[in-house]
Amino acid sequence: MRLLIASNRLPFSVSRGEGGIELKPSSGGLVSGISSYLDFMRNSTVKDFEYLWIGWPGSYIENELQNEFSRKISSQHGVVPVFIPDKEMDDFYLGFCNSTIWPLFHYFPTLTRFDREQWETYKKINSAFAEAVLKVASYDDVIWIHDYHLMLVPAMLREKLGEKAKIGFFLHIPFPSFEVYRIMPSVWREEILKGLLGCDLIGFHTNEYAHSFLRSLLRILGLPHNLGRLEYGNRHIKVDTFPMGIDFSKFDSALGNRKVMESLSFLGDKLKGMRVIVSVDRLDYTKGVPNRLKAFRNFLKKNTEYIKKVVLILVIVPSRIGVDQYQEMKNTLDKLISDINGEFGTIDWQPIIYQYRHIPFEELVALYSHADVALITPLRDGMNLVAKEYLASKRAGGALILSEMAGAAKELPEAFIINPNDIDEISDAIKRALETDKPELDRNLFIMRERISYYNVLQWVKDFLKALEKSREETGKLGVKLINKDDKARMIRDFQKAEKRIIFLDYDGTLAPFEKRPSSAVPDPQLLQLLSVLSTLSQLCIVSGRDSAFLDKYFHSTGAHLFAEHGALLKEKNGSWQVLTQSDTGWKKQMMEMFKSCCARLPSSFVEEKSFSIALHHRNCDPEMAELRIREFVDDLVNYTSNLNLQVLQGNKVVEVRSYDINKANAGRHFLEKGDYDFILSIGDDWTDEDLFQFLRDKNSWTLRVGLKPSAAKFNILSIEQVREMLGEIANAGI
Ligand code: UDP
Ligand code: G6P
Repeated sequence: MRLLIASNRLPFSVSRGEGGIELKPSSGGLVSGISSYLDFMRNSTVKDFEYLWIGWPGSYIENELQNEFSRKISSQHGVVPVFIPDKEMDDFYLGFCNSTIWPLFHYFPTLTRFDREQWETYKKINSAFAEAVLKVASYDDVIWIHDYHLMLVPAMLREKLGEKAKIGFFLHIPFPSFEVYRIMPSVWREEILKGLLGCDLIGFHTNEYAHSFLRSLLRILGLPHNLGRLEYGNRHIKVDTFPMGIDFSKFDSALGNRKVMESLSFLGDKLKGMRVIVSVDRLDYTKGVPNRLKAFRNFLKKNTEYIKKVVLILVIVPSRIGVDQYQEMKNTLDKLISDINGEFGTIDWQPIIYQYRHIPFEELVALYSHADVALITPLRDGMNLVAKEYLASKRAGGALILSEMAGAAKELPEAFIINPNDIDEISDAIKRALETDKPELDRNLFIMRERISYYNVLQWVKDFLKALEKSREETGKLGVKLINKDDKARMIRDFQKAEKRIIFLDYDGTLAPFEKRPSSAVPDPQLLQLLSVLSTLSQLCIVSGRDSAFLDKYFHSTGAHLFAEHGALLKEKNGSWQVLTQSDTGWKKQMMEMFKSCCARLPSSFVEEKSFSIALHHRNCDPEMAELRIREFVDDLVNYTSNLNLQVLQGNKVVEVRSYDINKANAGRHFLEKGDYDFILSIGDDWTDEDLFQFLRDKNSWTLRVGLKPSAAKFNILSIEQVREMLGEIANAGI
């Protein structure tokens, strides 16, 4: 297997130093997680593991140097750089990614910018990334796209690579609740969802994020799911939760490493007699550092016995300097730190040791291992790997204070969980963490270490890739057989050879799309023209759930035979309406009350009464409310009709009750019992059409269901457009 990883950030960033181009390690959870996995695989005995990591090298490289640079780093590091000019990168990375998506998805709507030009650049750069993937991709590759920078890439790849490609996506940040996501302009929010739907699998850190995403799909695209599974286009898509882990043993075993031990002994000397609190973050307003500092000040004020007995080592890694809020955050922190050190510090002690830089791995492990407490207080954080790294580097006596707003809190309930906006609560937690008995700390540490050592980064990747494979298999099992070119050619040949032809066509969802109100879904002139031609070449039957008045009004001129109300009524070409199946309708009066009462409780629904049935349409309703009400309503209807000769049908956003005697097979029976047809075609889109497919099954017929549902029809066809195109070819072939 070859894994193609695409992310904005590569594991290192390029910069120009005195000795030419220099590569510096990148920071952040995404890079940490994937690099740890790749390191592990490179050092393992697993054979045939190949990968390429496609991403932005961190700065622009001039045209003339690009080829040489690509060759050099791709052979040395398995990396494919995507070069993007600085101006575009500003609009993309500093702009749409980090001034629109990042603040909005972290629940900072007031910091969110909506700039059309930056959105256009976001699309453009996503397409450049898709091109870069396409250049190296082959059909056997697993393509794994990462994070919010590249949310449009999956659909772009799907369009080019087709159904066979294996594409997964993982979001490393929160997916916000629908009410926050909807703040984004409607075209953008729709395109982003559709972009992600190019995947076979979409992964999130927590159930909450997955749930928010699924809810946005329902509310914005009207796409329902069943336990995280959805059908879209001709694919099965799975949405699931994969909390990212760390390379536990890398941290755990580093404790025996010489450099780590040297660092530890240095810390031991320098901080002798001090209780140590550590925090490590990228510079980011989402990390809640000001509140952390205020809580530490509060703690010192309230617990003066800790003066000169405790230090907070605050490591801040520089990040996204070009975004205004990051610069402002830096100024805020500088000021707070100097205020607190000024207020409490003495000649021989200062409460906060501040480092604003990237820390090498060994130094980081030593720091984690030496600290009594890790203080992690993000206002929002997709996961927060630092929390897990701290636990992995601590074999005894460590206390973790963790914000409930970090994804990691879902997996680490034994930590001191705090609300990051509550300064008193954080300050109290610092005291409790410093004063809890060691056996209790050890017990909790042990439980958390067990958990993160099992669900480590390797397990995370394994689970994700396994779920991706499974999702592909589900697509294979959808039980659909899409009609292909050869089948179509055979059908057309059969049509040409035949002497007596008959065609049964459903209307809504087969020949025309659904509209908000059924009365607006009227046939267009091209369709009517096509049907007129077909009716001269065959017996053409429109078999619809619509009432006779609608069919008469719009299809009379085509010369087709019209079956209304699912085959209850028939008007043959040049004839008049006749009742095909006599059926008692006494039940309608009683049941109308039930329909009206449901309608009254479900805004935007409406009741349609036909001669032999009653229908409740809920296409325009709030989808969540409709789901609830309709489930209750159908339950009531099924109970009520259990001893009656009535059938409850759930069509496309409609619930209908009708007599059992009425179904679309009546249309087939009516004509086929009278004549010997040597070409029979039937096309429909929902389960009311299944009766006719079933009836035609053992006859020499062509039956097609629109969409991807398993069906008694011999073939599936993807869309209304494809149906019309195919009928057009048949008409041309017959003329
Ligand atoms: N980290 C780093 N350089 C440092 C300090 C930390 O690369 O100087 C790493 C840290 O070990 C962790 C990652 O950066 O793996 C931060 O990930 P986290 O999920 O905590 O936050 P993010 O930066 O992704 O928001
Ligand atoms: C978070 C994001 C990553 C990003 C990292 C560092 O972890 O989820 O996609 O790489 O922050 O941010 P940067 O802007 O430097 O890539």
